[in-house]
Amino acid sequence: MSLLFNQHTMRFLPFFLLVSWFLGAQSVPLPIIPLPQKVMLQSGNFQLNANTTMSFDLQQEQVAYAAEYLRKWIESYSGFSPALSRRGGNNNILLELSSDVKGQEAYRLKVSPSGISIQAWQPAGLFYGVQSLIQLFPVEKTSNPVIPVVEIVDEPSFAYRGLHLDVGRHYFPVEFVKSYIDMLARYKLNRFHWHLTEDQGWRIEIKKYPRLQEISAFRDETLIGHYNDQPQRYDGKRYGGYYTQAEVREIVAYARERFVTVIPEIEMPGHAQAAIAAYPELGCTDQKLKVATLWGVTDNVFCPNEATFTFLENVLKEVMELFPSTYIHIGGDECPKDQWKTNAVAQALIKKENLKDEHGLQSYFIRRIEKFLNQHGRQIIGWDEILEGGLAPNATVMSWRGEEGGIEAAKAGHPVIMTPTTYCYLDYYQSQHPDEPLAIGGNLPLEKVYGYHPIPEVLTAEQKKFILGVQGNQWTEYISTPAKAQYMTYPRMQAIAEIAWTPRELKNFNSFVQRLIPHMARWKSEGISFGNHLFDVKTSVMAGDGTGLKIKAENPAKRGEISYQLNGQTLPDRGNELSISKSGTYTAQTVYNGKPEGRAASVIIKTHLASGKKIKLSKQPSPSYPGSGDGSPINGVLGSSERYGDAEWLGFNGDDFEAVIDLGSVQTFKKMNFRFFNGPGQWIYVPKMVQVSWSNDGKTFSKPVSGNVVVPNGKIANTSLTLPKGKGRYLKVLVPNFGVIPAGQAGAGSKAWLFVDELVLE
Ligand code: ACM
Repeated sequence: MSLLFNQHTMRFLPFFLLVSWFLGAQSVPLPIIPLPQKVMLQSGNFQLNANTTMSFDLQQEQVAYAAEYLRKWIESYSGFSPALSRRGGNNNILLELSSDVKGQEAYRLKVSPSGISIQAWQPAGLFYGVQSLIQLFPVEKTSNPVIPVVEIVDEPSFAYRGLHLDVGRHYFPVEFVKSYIDMLARYKLNRFHWHLTEDQGWRIEIKKYPRLQEISAFRDETLIGHYNDQPQRYDGKRYGGYYTQAEVREIVAYARERFVTVIPEIEMPGHAQAAIAAYPELGCTDQKLKVATLWGVTDNVFCPNEATFTFLENVLKEVMELFPSTYIHIGGDECPKDQWKTNAVAQALIKKENLKDEHGLQSYFIRRIEKFLNQHGRQIIGWDEILEGGLAPNATVMSWRGEEGGIEAAKAGHPVIMTPTTYCYLDYYQSQHPDEPLAIGGNLPLEKVYGYHPIPEVLTAEQKKFILGVQGNQWTEYISTPAKAQYMTYPRMQAIAEIAWTPRELKNFNSFVQRLIPHMARWKSEGISFGNHLFDVKTSVMAGDGTGLKIKAENPAKRGEISYQLNGQTLPDRGNELSISKSGTYTAQTVYNGKPEGRAASVIIKTHLASGKKIKLSKQPSPSYPGSGDGSPINGVLGSSERYGDAEWLGFNGDDFEAVIDLGSVQTFKKMNFRFFNGPGQWIYVPKMVQVSWSNDGKTFSKPVSGNVVVPNGKIANTSLTLPKGKGRYLKVLVPNFGVIPAGQAGAGSKAWLFVDELVLE
């Protein structure tokens, strides 16, 4: 021991210090999100004080935006405002345009003990340098903040880095929209996709059409709870609001000062019921409509008549006056064609224009609007349905129903923005914890968002260039307050920002989590809500390989260790895995520095004849709903009766469930209980029947026994199948998928989902 302290060791002390500093720097990276391309951290600090000055070219408006942003920020942080200095020199923050730094949004930030400089080719780069600098300030506000000496050279991977907000389903106040844009700016996102019109509300003032403000901006009432809840109930309260043109201008200007382009979306031909309620001549039927109160997709869409085109062109003229963005989003998604099929005007137009069918008519509709916008120097973006029936010549495609639409568009030489539901829909659940507030459905934890890369490998190098970038979408059927919008958006939006900015090779989820922790502390001090699941334990009960049941537990931050309880009694076991031999309620909790951290996870395990045995599935579930693996249906755990995205439910899109369970030896059994999720609003249908047969050798099976499944009133279908004289080692289970979603339902014509959980064998 004493050797450690002899003189010999002392000689190496600086070396040890250096190594530990280096390791320290690695384990706690500088808290910049998105991670910059190159960070060269050196020793020493710059200390800001009341005498610190700023210099920049006042004459350049956009340079002044970046500098003003920083000045105001320092003022709110430290209590003093840096004075403008013409000469720069020591204790100065210099912002300057420089041709040395190439790239539209690139910057170089240098912090030295005597001053700070940010250089960029364009003002946007200066602004991003400012954002990185701000993130280097200690979280705790002080009048003399210390900033580490560092050089950062940085630029984004993608030119289009977007975040969307649906203000149609719920209206959000101007102040909130500004704060949302400010968060985009902080995390170097540069496109705000403002979804302004919906079936349930039209939110932008159009002077030529005052009934849009009087009628379309308000609905009679709002659905309580989830679409799938039965019976559906309403709150009976009139709801609505809209943004005046003055407010729109204010928001656009606010965004402009933050290098964010606001892209307005005016939905057509679907999601138009609110407009039709005010101007019935825009619709296809004589039915008197109200602004929609139920979520989902309605059949009431714009009729492709001249009244509609005149209306939309007039609306778009005012929209173009308000929004300088080259891109105008024209929607194009979820437009049922039922009304067009029986409408004389629509059918006559199909004939006159020699169109193939109603999809061709939708294409005609979009092409006509595109032509109008192109004539005014604008370009359209549409959701991927605009591919059906043929793409408009200059359209950019926003791929949301997976990546397929984006792939098809890129192959056809059209620009693409990736925003697939599986990775980019921030209205999905971010945790399966039972305390989570109501969400539309799905399962999109932070780490899954972070893992997304928006360039599909199937594209050639040439085609890949058409992927402009990536966007997170925030739909608000189930988000009625700013605080909940923040909770659902942050920090998953920051993961989107890192996907969009940081080169794929540099991405690292653990580093992201480390950097996120101080950001969360800052948001907390600013009163910004956010979802923090970094320390929550996630459990999955593993089964299916014949070796029994095991709990796997971890937290996304990978911090601390996991401790376990069984029925309230602490177990001696620690670590990420626990073997299970008996039924009971198991609880797993992160323990860090001797204290519990984050939320615990509890799981009720009830063993049965098949639990922990072997299972083989003929078809794999969708990668989006893999449960805890193939063994989920025989792991002794019942999936949530509210959510289908947890570690229990296996989801099959259009496919049947077919499995063979190997009990390891011949057993006798009496019945099998099945559990299915019922969620027509999410395209989830219970199967019509189930079937089981058994065998001693796994080759010759008994005559199958089958039973019908009754569609429940609620979300869970329980079915019990008696297995007369059941005896064997292998059981073959077949559950045919419901098939195609019937007309009149959400997702009509698409493949139904089948969600299967525990197969309890008794
Ligand atoms: C969409 O989510 N309907 C684009």
